[in-house]
Amino acid sequence: RVGASARRDLAGRRVVVTAGGTREPLDPVRFLGNRSSGKQGVALAEAARARGAEVTLIAANLEVADPVGCGIRPVSTAAELQAAVIEEALGADVVVMAAAVADYRPATVSESKIKKQPGEDGLTLELVRNPDILAELGHAPHDGTLLVGFAAETEPDDERLVALGAAKLEAKGADLLVVNRVGWTEGFARDENRVVILGAGGAVLDRSAGSKMSVADAILDVVARHLGGEPD
Ligand code: CTP
Ligand code: CA
Repeated sequence: RVGASARRDLAGRRVVVTAGGTREPLDPVRFLGNRSSGKQGVALAEAARARGAEVTLIAANLEVADPVGCGIRPVSTAAELQAAVIEEALGADVVVMAAAVADYRPATVSESKIKKQPGEDGLTLELVRNPDILAELGHAPHDGTLLVGFAAETEPDDERLVALGAAKLEAKGADLLVVNRVGWTEGFARDENRVVILGAGGAVLDRSAGSKMSVADAILDVVARHLGGEPD
């Protein structure tokens, strides 16, 4: 894709990207997390910057270096990510929810390190649901803000994978949804990715496979086509 980033088709646009994986604390030394490295979100931030956008990256526990030329807001928990993205989404042209947000958090956070108890042979954790940040943004009026969600799915069958993505796009009120097959060896922490990009009604708008940077540019091609009006 020679020239994709030379296009500067996002000049004057404000783009907010969430990346990485949230961590939900159990006690001062432990958390529940996930395997998202932040690579795809960071590639999106870098690619959007290269295409002329003003980019804010909401960075949840990245395992890769921060992108240059972007505003960075470090967060750790889903609650922190929610507060940051709600604030940054105001006046944004595009919000990309690439972060892997924990669906649950421990019901209570122990102030001291949880100790093994004599005679116990197991521990049961009670978890409570986190808010669905993308659905909250999608169900609030968001005129002028293109909302891009991701879907991480382990479904092996392509048709069913797309159907799961279409259902998520609908349920969350996203404008675009990037479906990503994940597994023990796919998606998370790798340098390559393979995605299907869905639009209104779950229509397949594009497919992209390759480096996370080339996938980022393919996603931003679709984003650029969907942006309305002129940048201010
Ligand atoms: N997401 C979010 N808030 C959450 C969970 C997910 O905003 N509490 C966002 C993710 O950032 C992603 C999209 O929702 O853009 C889909 O995330 P995913 O985990 O694939 O879907 P879920 O709706 O959480 O469904 P499930 O994990 O049960 O498949
Ligand atoms: Ca989830």
